[in-house]
Amino acid sequence: MSFQIKSFEEYQKAYKESVENPEQFWGGIAENFFWKRKWTNVLNWNFKEPDIKWFEGGKLNITENCLDRHIYQLGDKPAIIWEPNDPHEAHRVLSYKQLLQKVEQFSNVLKNNNIRKGDRVCIYLPMVPELVIAVLACARIGAIHSVVFGGFSAQSIADRINDAECKLVITSDGGFRGKKILELKTIVDDALMQCKSVEKVIVLTRTRTPISMIKGRDVWWEDEIKKVETQGNPACPAEEMDAEDTLFILYTSGSTGKPKGVVHSTAGYMVYTGYTFANTFQYQPGEVYFCTADIGWITGHSYIVYGPLSQGATSLMFEGIPTYPDASRFWDIVEKYKVNILYTAPTAIRSLMAFGDEYVQNKDLSSLRVLGTVGEPINEEAWNWYHDKVGKGNCPIVDTWWQTENGGHLITPIAGITPEIPGYAMLPLPGVQPCLMDENGEEIEGNDVSGNLCIKFPWPGMLRTTWGDHERCRQTYFSTYEDMYFTGDGCYRSPEGYYRITGRVDDVLNVSGHRIGTAEVENAINMHADVVESAIVGYPHPVKGQGIYAYVIANHHIDAEKTRQDILQTVTRIIGAIAKPDIIQFVTELPKTRSGKIMRRILRKIAEGELGSLGDTSTLQDPTVVEAIIEGSKEMK
Ligand code: WT7
Repeated sequence: MSFQIKSFEEYQKAYKESVENPEQFWGGIAENFFWKRKWTNVLNWNFKEPDIKWFEGGKLNITENCLDRHIYQLGDKPAIIWEPNDPHEAHRVLSYKQLLQKVEQFSNVLKNNNIRKGDRVCIYLPMVPELVIAVLACARIGAIHSVVFGGFSAQSIADRINDAECKLVITSDGGFRGKKILELKTIVDDALMQCKSVEKVIVLTRTRTPISMIKGRDVWWEDEIKKVETQGNPACPAEEMDAEDTLFILYTSGSTGKPKGVVHSTAGYMVYTGYTFANTFQYQPGEVYFCTADIGWITGHSYIVYGPLSQGATSLMFEGIPTYPDASRFWDIVEKYKVNILYTAPTAIRSLMAFGDEYVQNKDLSSLRVLGTVGEPINEEAWNWYHDKVGKGNCPIVDTWWQTENGGHLITPIAGITPEIPGYAMLPLPGVQPCLMDENGEEIEGNDVSGNLCIKFPWPGMLRTTWGDHERCRQTYFSTYEDMYFTGDGCYRSPEGYYRITGRVDDVLNVSGHRIGTAEVENAINMHADVVESAIVGYPHPVKGQGIYAYVIANHHIDAEKTRQDILQTVTRIIGAIAKPDIIQFVTELPKTRSGKIMRRILRKIAEGELGSLGDTSTLQDPTVVEAIIEGSKEMK
């Protein structure tokens, strides 16, 4: 890993070069990958349209970089270690050689099922090795994967399948999650009633839950593998892809109702995830790296699959949840596999912290060398607990700030090399040019200042478009500030120039590290027959970071408790259980301006319990509405 930064001076040098001569810098990094044909042009860009091209003219396949090129030296080394939900079930280890063989096999299954370069494939699987195999098999033949997190509802799957016009769905009979079984295939069946584009469904056996297999449409994963085996040639050459060909789509929530399909390209994403993985965590050959995310989110794409594998790392994936069978599960896994690098979310840390120290104290965590967090701001108490109780005071913590749209880490400490402060994402990685903007579109220079966080210059891992709607991409990220990528986050820059992310400045919530649009939840609630109108805001939640607070105007005759349950059910049906409100307060009216706009600022304050600082309410149609809502809110928590 010759591009690994080894000292603070090297960081400064790399950063300087990346800003002064970005093409030379990224060209040099890209030399560390395997290209079928080298690029002719490192970067071509404008943020107006936007039009961003990295490594133009380059030909490659990302799976050759993640698999084939390692076989000679690392063929028998573990690529994936899989820990099942049930600690009594056998774990699995796939060496690089075995993973390549399985990926080639399944690539041929995809071809047999009429999938070709450019086709979209929806993957709705639990956290089993076959999920990695399916993702890489798509990439090997140039099919575009769209992984949907196993917690999303049939309706959410249908929306995503229809938006991308997927031809194939890969799922399993079910999934194990703690004590629960997720009925994945049944949920897919419900979704597919609305989807015309889907021709085939490949079903993996996992839980042996009874399911219906539809003739002509549904086939078993295991049968398809057998077919490939009898066909003879198990190999599958990697499709030659253009640097800018789409690698995958991943849907994420924004401030409007409909999730958007973030589009990532091949070469830039590969270079960026590989570079950031090797640097942020300072991965050393032979180490075991454990990222607790689900592959259904970008963290799993970039830092369970593509980043670690392109660097020849051993990536541990875990099927279950941190609290099953008890709150020591993560620590048992660290002990069992001698994990060196652990990457998890603040919400998981807070929830485990709440169970008490006895779950972590008597475990052998001495293998740990680096800790990471991702997904939301981390409070100092959780940071300290992670540092002292998990890292025993010996491990640097990298608080990695980035987004689905970014592909990889943008602002983060480099483990043990650049400084760290609890709650701070600290300094930008080489190639990343952050800036803070004020309301008038002016850049805020200097230190000890706050503003809206933007990025001035492209980096290879950034999104290229939103699927099927380029204008929406321009509008969302590139129109708020001229010639800037707007992140949607607020940020403080300390006197020393360190960055601290303060949270979203738009109508996007971050609940347990999951991104949820308030409009999306409102739309779901409004579908309930007895709901007239609703407004969603976030409020501080001790474990989830943010909780979901719903103000709902319902028909008069309702039974409040029953309707509350029904609303939760409705949200679960429309979006998924992750979007269920924590608090539902029935109100008779919402505070609106004279032009009819809901004043969320006031609702947010009430939800936060900050009744003393409601601000100016004189522009409301009817200021007395606020009094009534405050009264009702007192009974809610
Ligand atoms: C939003 C992106 C890509 C990571 C998984 C979440 C928040 C993310 C941090 C952090 C403070 C963070 C931001 C960002 N966020 N990491 N280290 N500190 N906030 O990806 O679902 O695309 O959400 O998560 O608000 O905009 P995502």
